[in-house]
Amino acid sequence: MTLSQAFERHVPAVDALLRDILAAPSAGFKSLYGMLQYHHGWLDQDLRPVQADSGKRVRPLLCLLSCEACGGEAETALPVAAAIELLHSFSLVHDDIQDNSPLRRHRPTVWALWGAPQAINVGDLLFAEANHCLLRVREVTPAEVALTVASEFQTTCVRLCEGQYLDMDFEQRRLVSSDEYFAMIERKSAALIGFAAWAGAVVAGAGAARADHLRDFGRDLGLAFQIQDDVLGIWGEEAETGKSVSSDIAAAKKTLPWLLALESLPSGDGSELVELYRQRERSEPMVARARDLIERSGARERCQALADERYRSALAALQAADPAPGSAKTLRELVQYLGGRRS
Ligand code: IPE
Ligand code: IPE
Ligand code: MG
Ligand code: MG
Repeated sequence: MTLSQAFERHVPAVDALLRDILAAPSAGFKSLYGMLQYHHGWLDQDLRPVQADSGKRVRPLLCLLSCEACGGEAETALPVAAAIELLHSFSLVHDDIQDNSPLRRHRPTVWALWGAPQAINVGDLLFAEANHCLLRVREVTPAEVALTVASEFQTTCVRLCEGQYLDMDFEQRRLVSSDEYFAMIERKSAALIGFAAWAGAVVAGAGAARADHLRDFGRDLGLAFQIQDDVLGIWGEEAETGKSVSSDIAAAKKTLPWLLALESLPSGDGSELVELYRQRERSEPMVARARDLIERSGARERCQALADERYRSALAALQAADPAPGSAKTLRELVQYLGGRRS
């Protein structure tokens, strides 16, 4: 199965389950659930049906393909896959408040339209629905497996919140080491992607060693994915990413390009970059100057090299999991697709 065939086959099933879960339970809460549906790209800002950008759906697809790679039926992993997307949605809705981001998936963010207090409610509800949805795994797997998966899901939520804490804590710090940076992205992004691959394997009945290889695969993929997101956060095209470019610099995010630039810039330029990030706010010319300094340091190319290294170790972990050949091919194509993504 090619990757686009896999998307066509699996994503509608995930979407159908998500739509079912996010339907308003009563007329009185149509606007509340409407905001959740808006985030998923199904409604416009007046809560009328629309087909807008719903995101790449990478995490649920990874979960379903991992399940198949271990000899399982994709249907078995469907509740976990949908729960993972809901948790991802929760994290994005809250992240956009935390990062003060007005744009996601080419549209205004939930907080930008309805205010931060309601966006917090939207995120909380998505978090609760994610947990609810995950419990449906009881219908397709033995109770013991369901409990293991649910427990690991909670651990993943904890990791994600720790990662978000570090991300924001770093904004206030003068310097951040690359070890600290990797500890942060491992939690905020890679943990959930690792969980997606691991959980797919576990519900398929894979043994612990095989499932762990798949988790390593997802985690390394997640690390590379986040490095690339950081590169896009500085040099991406808003028309492609659907997010406001430069906001990472404006918010003084200590992302990998900044960190690597400090390692290689001459000391005068390095101090200037540190100072630019220490100001309370950065004007457009300051953002442009910071971008220029980072670009000149060669950090963009070094980030790409580090991402490529992670993509390669992800592929090695996938190989170690001894996946079914057809699914392995699709998963390798997924890695390639993510490596070349511009959004
Ligand atoms: C965005 O994730 C958040 C990160 C972890 C970088 P995605 O790039 O998967 O977002 P969507 O779901 O496709 O919009
Ligand atoms: C990604 O956050 C991780 C989570 C949302 C938990 P970022 O802030 O790095 O990602 P974007 O660029 O807003 O999607
Ligand atoms: Mg963030
Ligand atoms: Mg953000």
